Amino acid sequence: MDIKLDNINKVFGNYKALDQVSFEIEKGKLIGLLGPSGSGKTTILRILAGLERQDTGNVYLNGILVNELSASKRGIGFVFQSYGLFPYMTVYDNIAYGLKVQKKSKEYIRDRVTELLELVELPGLEKRYPLELSGGQMQRIAFARALAPNPKLLLLDEPFAAIDAKVRKELRSWLREMITKIRITSIFVTHDQDEAVEVADEIIITNKGQVEQIGTPIEIYKNPRTPFVAQFIGQSTQINGYRNLKGFETLEEGFRAVIRPEFIKVYKYGTKEEYISALEDGIVRNAIFRGDCMEVTLEVKGNFLKTLRSLDDEGVALGEKVQLHILRFYLFDDKKAYSVTNKSLDAADTFYI
Ligand SMILES: Nc1ncnc2c1ncn2[C@@H]1O[C@H](COP(=O)(O)OP(=O)(O)OP(=O)(O)O)[C@@H](O)[C@H]1O
Ligand SMILES: [Mg+2]
Repeated sequence: MDIKLDNINKVFGNYKALDQVSFEIEKGKLIGLLGPSGSGKTTILRILAGLERQDTGNVYLNGILVNELSASKRGIGFVFQSYGLFPYMTVYDNIAYGLKVQKKSKEYIRDRVTELLELVELPGLEKRYPLELSGGQMQRIAFARALAPNPKLLLLDEPFAAIDAKVRKELRSWLREMITKIRITSIFVTHDQDEAVEVADEIIITNKGQVEQIGTPIEIYKNPRTPFVAQFIGQSTQINGYRNLKGFETLEEGFRAVIRPEFIKVYKYGTKEEYISALEDGIVRNAIFRGDCMEVTLEVKGNFLKTLRSLDDEGVALGEKVQLHILRFYLFDDKKAYSVTNKSLDAADTFYI
């Protein structure tokens, strides 16, 4: 199903929950709706689904204006974290619920439930009750329940929020596979950027009731277009006095600057022989083991910049003096974000993420 939201506004009391929200989604895409708490993600889903009515603006499904269409007629399935499963019903009855509402035959329902349990890789659990399932299993059953009536659009509101990190990772690749297999247009809400980046074809970033940016994970990562996105995506640290950094002296004043760990290359003192004039000195102020790498914080001209160091590289000690190249960072004012690169480094020697 194609989706279009056109200039949606929604006020709760005197709080503007959605402010001119517009976007379009192509059929079959898996979209990540990413933004901080309170930025309007759930409200967007509820309006799309017909559970909430927008104050102004239009919702189109497959090109048809559906403002007046009730939730049950929109052909949309949900997996909401907070709704969970009906605790007093078996897995079978949970999945069959929407089909019974549609008055499908007993045989049809039995076949469909069996098919869905196979799809979610939990065959044979028909008679269990939700409390007899793990969190991950419950969410898979919730997914099967949402899919049972063959919706044309699937909305998932932080479906894995209550699940621990490892299972959550497994579930998100599982979800990606499932959705690719059944090719249903889906919107997946999360405030975890890793989750959005890993799962989604495209990401819509919300902030304070507005859409900040829409794009593929790579586009958004490489080219944040607003100050909010520049700070929200990636592991950002603010830089003070950006014009004091070598290679950035000619930048205009008056902007704010943020940098990410991967925009910095760190060398043991005296080991780097190219682009010496662009080398900055830094002191190692902190080093944390991150499992697959070390996160090293360097003090550079009054800034504390986070960098990543491979476990294969020679270690650095607290207080050690090192050298670094700053490859690039983001500058922004109130409206726009720009990427700026180090003028003292030749493109041949740098790598860009
Ligand atoms: N029924 C309601 N009545 C009053 N205010 C509401 C209602 N629903 C949402 N809000 C407010 O609207 C804003 C957006 O809420 P929404 O639930 O859409 O945010 P969200 O992005 O889903 O946040 P989270 O990540 O915490 O789930 C919030 O400030 C919230 O308090
Ligand atoms: Mg929400």
